[in-house]
Amino acid sequence: MPTALIILAAGQGSRMNSDLPKVLHEVGNAPLFAHALAAGSALSPEKTVLVVGHGGDLVEAAARKIDETITVARQTEQLGTAHAVAQARDALADFDGDALVLYGDTPFVSAETLERMTSARATHDVVVLGFEAADPARYGRLVVNGDRLERIVEFKDADAATRAITLCNSGVVCADAATLFALIDAVGNDNASGEYYLTDIVEIAWKMGKTATAVSCDEAETLGINTRTELARAEGLFQASKRAEALENGVTLTAPETVFFSLDTYIGRDAVIEPNVVFGPNVTIESNARIRAFSHLEGCHVSMGSTVGPFARLRPGAELSNNAHVGNFVEIKNAKIGEGTKVNHLTYIGDAEIGDGTNVGAGTITCNYDGVFKHKTTVGKNAFIGSNTMLVAPVTLGDDTMTASGSVITTDVEAGALAIARARQVNKAGLAVRMFEKLKSAKKKSQKGS
Ligand code: UD1
Ligand code: CA
Repeated sequence: MPTALIILAAGQGSRMNSDLPKVLHEVGNAPLFAHALAAGSALSPEKTVLVVGHGGDLVEAAARKIDETITVARQTEQLGTAHAVAQARDALADFDGDALVLYGDTPFVSAETLERMTSARATHDVVVLGFEAADPARYGRLVVNGDRLERIVEFKDADAATRAITLCNSGVVCADAATLFALIDAVGNDNASGEYYLTDIVEIAWKMGKTATAVSCDEAETLGINTRTELARAEGLFQASKRAEALENGVTLTAPETVFFSLDTYIGRDAVIEPNVVFGPNVTIESNARIRAFSHLEGCHVSMGSTVGPFARLRPGAELSNNAHVGNFVEIKNAKIGEGTKVNHLTYIGDAEIGDGTNVGAGTITCNYDGVFKHKTTVGKNAFIGSNTMLVAPVTLGDDTMTASGSVITTDVEAGALAIARARQVNKAGLAVRMFEKLKSAKKKSQKGS
C-alpha cells in the first residue's frame, strides 16, 4: 500500500519565546520536523506534505534543503489540527493510498511504531497512536472498547470520568487518504476551543460505518516540544539514544556521555570514538577508524582505518581516504586527503587535494584565500611537505616532490623536484658573543644610573 506523510508544522510555538518557528529549533543539529520526516521515510512514502504556517517561508526553505521533492502546503490561519490536515488535500488529490499524519514538533516517534500503525490498517479504517501517560495532563483521551477506538475526547471537553483515562492521544493518525479527507469534511468546531479537531474523525468514522483502532507506543516516543526546557530534555534523550545505538552497532565509545551526535551521523563497526568528540551534521565514519579526544567533525567523511585528533577539526568537504592520519591542532576543509597520508601537527588544509602516501609537515598552511576568491592547492603522491610550508594557492606540486621547511611556495613544483623558497642562511662568525657583551654592558650602565 503506497503511503503519504502529512507533517503538521504550522504552529508558532509561542512558549518557545523565540523569533524562530518552533519546528526549526534543532535536536541533534536537525530541525525538529526533520526527525518526524526521518521516521516517516522508513515507510518509503510516495509523497510528503509539510503543512506550514508561522514562519512558513523559513520552514519551507529548511525543508527543501533536506528533501527537494517535499510538497509544502500553507495553513494561513491556525484553526486546528483537522484544518491543518485539510490543507494537504490538494497536494494529495492524485494520491491513492494511506496517509499518515505526524506532528513536526514530536521528534521521537519510531519507524517501527509507524510500521505497526500501517499494519493495523489491514483491519481498521482509522488507526490512532496512543500511549499510557504517566501524567496524562492535558492530552486528549482515547476511549477504547476492546480493539475498538470509540472516540477521542480533548482534555478541555472531557468530564471527570474521561479525564481519569490514562491512555492518551499522541496525534499520529493513519487512514486511507480519501477516507481521511472525507472524515475531515465532517469535522466542526463546536467545542471548548472553537477549533477543528482532528481527533473528531474517530467518532465520525463510526457514524459513517467505518472502524477505528488504537496502536500503543512508549510514552517517550510521543514527547512533544513546547518549551526550551523540553527542547533541552529532548536533546539529552536524543543523544542518549544515539549513543546506545552506536554501542549496539559495534562502535566503541570510551566515555559515551561525552560524545555528541547529529541526526544523520553514521559510524561504522569497530570504529573507536574517544571522549569529548562532537559530530556536527553530515558525518560518516567508516569501520576501524579512530576519532581521538576533543575532535570536532562536520560535513566530512573518514574512511577505514584513519585516525583523527586529538584536537582536530574536520570541516565540510573534508574527505579522508583509508588509513589517513590527521593529528592534533589540524583543521581540514573541503579537501581530500590521500590513502595513508599524514597531516599530523598544527596545519590548515583548505580547498585542496593531497595524494596518497604524502607527508605534510608541522605548521603547513594552504593559503587558499586572497581576500576575495578561494583557490585550490594540489599535491601529488608520496610528496614531503617540509614543516612550516606556506602553499599559496592556486598551486600544484607533483608526485614525489619535496619542499624545504619554511618555504613560501607560490609557483608550481614539477614531479620529483625539491622546492626551496626562503632567504638563504648566513652565519657571522663570533657575532653572537660580541652582541651578548654589548647588551650586558648596556644593562649594567642602566642599573648604575637608576
Ligand atoms: C493535540 C491533540 C491531542 C493530543 C496532543 C498530543 C487535537 C485536537 N488534539 O493537542 O488530542 O493529545 O495533540 O500532543 O488534535 N497544528 C497546526 N495547525 C493548527 C493546529 C495545530 O499545524 O491549526 C500543529 C501544531 O503546530 C502541532 C500539532 O499540530 O505540531 C499539534 O497541535 P497542538 O495545538 O499542539 O495540539 P494540542 O492542543 O497539543
Ligand atoms: Ca501540543
